[in-house]
Amino acid sequence: MTDKATPAKSGKNPKSSKDPFANVPHEPGAPKMDKIIVADHVKRRFGGLTAVDVAHFEVQRNAITALIGPNGAGKSTFFNLLTGFDRPQEGEWSFNGFSLHSKSPAQVARSGMVRTFQLTKALSRMTVMENMRLGAAQQVGENFFRALFPALWRKQEAEITAKAEELLVRFKLDAKKNDYAGELSGGQRKLLEMARALMSDPEIVMLDEPMAGVNPALTESLLDHIVELKKEGVTVLFVEHDMHMVRRISDWVVVMAEGKIIAEGPPDTVMANAAVQDAYLGSHHDTDLFEER
Ligand SMILES: Nc1ncnc2c1ncn2[C@@H]1O[C@H](COP(=O)(O)OP(=O)(O)OP(=O)(O)O)[C@@H](O)[C@H]1O
Ligand SMILES: [Mg+2]
Repeated sequence: MTDKATPAKSGKNPKSSKDPFANVPHEPGAPKMDKIIVADHVKRRFGGLTAVDVAHFEVQRNAITALIGPNGAGKSTFFNLLTGFDRPQEGEWSFNGFSLHSKSPAQVARSGMVRTFQLTKALSRMTVMENMRLGAAQQVGENFFRALFPALWRKQEAEITAKAEELLVRFKLDAKKNDYAGELSGGQRKLLEMARALMSDPEIVMLDEPMAGVNPALTESLLDHIVELKKEGVTVLFVEHDMHMVRRISDWVVVMAEGKIIAEGPPDTVMANAAVQDAYLGSHHDTDLFEER
């Protein structure tokens, strides 16, 4: 680690030295101790609208980071850019120190970075199990491998099935494995999408509104899954509008408004930030930033 972060402004309660955010300044673009993603000068314009204009952004490894901001702030577009689903007009970004510039979504996924979508992309005419297997297919260079090494392929197939079954149990979808994904509830589709993302053993999962439209019982299990992922060493970056959820599980919160990162910090500090409150108030957003449940 070569970066020296300047001490946090609130020096009252020094956190344990194990806390990777203890010395991270509460400001946009703050340097992290162990960065898994770094982005610089990323700009995405749609006609006259600048949807994303991020000067500098770092994600701490093996932590849960929330990306929040009012509707239209550019969060999903930023996710699309980082994961190769869209291209910026300008900018550089890297994962584990390797540039992802001009990499395809499949290449990004193979390198260990997977994402889910705000509107689920579970394939409704495929079964739950088939969806899961598709999550692994991205990883192995399927056709080539199958043709050249049929015996190895069958072994790998068996491993993929076993892994899918294990994940389906974990996400309480095992009873549905032969159902069409289209028959699942919205919340179950969200769970399926997250389970499918885990098929490729990602180093980082990026979840775009994983809790939206999910009923309270399933929300609890989704939250547990996210916390569990961190325990397993996975990094999580998620977009969420529900501030109660953000408070409960995030180690660090990054706030976007009008394409820019306007604040960063631990959940409690960042939501008290005047610029953040202005951004939400100015947007007529229905998120309640201020009320504790
Ligand atoms: N493909 C596109 N073409 C034109 N404009 C777009 C496109 N995608 C996004 N935008 C615009 O870019 C801005 C940022 O959108 P984006 O979906 O990234 O916001 P968001 O922060 O994810 O919002 P939400 O919280 O509502 O999901 C919006 O003004 C949106 O209308
Ligand atoms: Mg969005």
